[in-house]
Amino acid sequence: MDSPVVVSHPLAQIHLTEIRRVNTTCGQFRWHLQRLAEILFIEATRHLKTSAIRVQTPLAETEGAAFARPIVLVPILRAGLGLQEAILPLVPDAIVAHVGIARDEATAQPMPYYSKLPSVLAQADVFLLDPMLATGGSACSAVNQLKEAGATSITFICVVSCPHGLQAFAAQHPDVPVITAAVDDGLNDRCYIVPGLGDAGDRCFGT
Ligand code: URA
Repeated sequence: MDSPVVVSHPLAQIHLTEIRRVNTTCGQFRWHLQRLAEILFIEATRHLKTSAIRVQTPLAETEGAAFARPIVLVPILRAGLGLQEAILPLVPDAIVAHVGIARDEATAQPMPYYSKLPSVLAQADVFLLDPMLATGGSACSAVNQLKEAGATSITFICVVSCPHGLQAFAAQHPDVPVITAAVDDGLNDRCYIVPGLGDAGDRCFGT
């Protein structure tokens, strides 16, 4: 298994603790998820390519940095939207693509049902967003779609992962780095991550 980047920053772990807590309210869950998403995105963009540009300050001209390539955020519907909401203000010109993948609750197999991808994928730095890497089925399916559409630089950001999902994902997509706040123990018989945080979409949207 390729190693994920596990973000152990104390603030990341404090926000993670609050979203794990069973009696965290929906509003609190969203707020802490968003703060955690910001931290994960900052880590995920640590090696982002920038272009040197000149900038005029009130006092002098100096060197600055600009995005070298378009940024594309790809939340996997629906829970990925909770991450995208926090990340977009950090990169306000980012393109937002969407991939809809439902999970067959009986088999835990991914069922793609929607995809709206931009034409610039081949030139872009693409960030795939989904809070949970459980079996790896949805993430693998989404990356397959992105690669088929031309993406070559993809980073996957998830909040909680587990060894099974990480192995399955790395086996299919060893070129896609995974940024996460936790590698949990494993999956239960319904393919939920344990200890995990429950159903991320339900907790984020109050359903
Ligand atoms: N999806 C979730 O929302 N939670 C899990 O534990 C696994 C998949």
